[in-house]
Amino acid sequence: DTPLRERAADKGLIYGAAAQHQVLTTNVEFAQRFAQECAMLVPANELKWQALRPTPERFDFSRSDWMANFAQRHNMLLRGHTLVWHRALPKWFEETVDRTNAAKVLTEHINTVVQHYAGNIHSWDVVNEAIVPNKTKDGLRQTPWLRLLGVDYIEMAFRTAAAADPQALLVYNDNNLEYDNAKTAVKRTQVLKLLERLKSRGVPVHALGIQSHIGASPQGFNAKKLRDFLKEVASLDLKILITEMDVLEKNLLEANNRDAIIAGVYQDYLSLVLDEPAVNTVITWGLSDRYTWLTNFAPRQDGAPIRPLPLDAQLERKLAWNAIASAFDQA
Ligand code: G3I
Repeated sequence: DTPLRERAADKGLIYGAAAQHQVLTTNVEFAQRFAQECAMLVPANELKWQALRPTPERFDFSRSDWMANFAQRHNMLLRGHTLVWHRALPKWFEETVDRTNAAKVLTEHINTVVQHYAGNIHSWDVVNEAIVPNKTKDGLRQTPWLRLLGVDYIEMAFRTAAAADPQALLVYNDNNLEYDNAKTAVKRTQVLKLLERLKSRGVPVHALGIQSHIGASPQGFNAKKLRDFLKEVASLDLKILITEMDVLEKNLLEANNRDAIIAGVYQDYLSLVLDEPAVNTVITWGLSDRYTWLTNFAPRQDGAPIRPLPLDAQLERKLAWNAIASAFDQA
């Protein structure tokens, strides 16, 4: 059967997934299946500060370079995740970085990492998860970056990345934008405000990444409000990427048809978002149920293995795979 990467490409879309170096280098069959299904590889952790910066002086590109090479060999695009985040910072960060050197540390990091992959990378998550509804007036999350540099850290990050690689698509990436509830409504407004402000100041931001870690409750989202939000983003002349999709099933303990329910969520969500022409990329946060962060983060109470991704633990295609395929076919 035609792989997801070709079905997506037939509609001018990109399908890809996140993966870990440790898995790609040790499971040959997984690596093969990955290259068959995916037109884009996202290193799940290997481009985070923690992975790249063993010491303040050193950059270690060994794992991410292996992945970039793997992507190239298999004709896959590479996506960078992530340059500015409040998590996955190395231990030395807190001890070494203060107000006097924070701007230098940030721009040096971005310059070095973005230049290293310039010309060979599709896009960068320049800033990840900077908004959290209700915490402050503009929704900016209290992060080391905000504390050290003030609100301008976001603008600084995008401008530095654009100068280091004028070709890469520069993305603001965030979560909890999918559902229909009071917090999401606030967060959508705050994300839109941030993007508008950046645009109006001429900051080179090119796309919004909507992570899409979604719960398997069919009533989770409101089609009209989600469509309206996507339209507003698109009207700012921004592309939209679905950057980290998977479907949590913590609440499906009783269900004996959980694969069908999960597939239904994929089908509903993707057909809805793919209606918006600005949405041109769909990435799942992993490819096989054998390797998913949700095993640790959101295990089932009954201990049964969870099934949030397109392929099962044996690398067989599941109903979720069919749902993604048909969402692409109908796009
Ligand atoms: O590699 C070490 C290993 O050597 C060590 O023995 C083990 C013990 O804890 O930890 C391993 O590192 C873990 C790493 O995943 C690799 O598995 C880290 O502790 C763990 O924190 C890290 O979690 C990652 C998390 O981001 C934090 O960076 C997840 O794999 C990754 O899926 C998750 O991805 C995030 C996106 O970046 C942003 N959006 C949400 C998404 C899910 O949380």
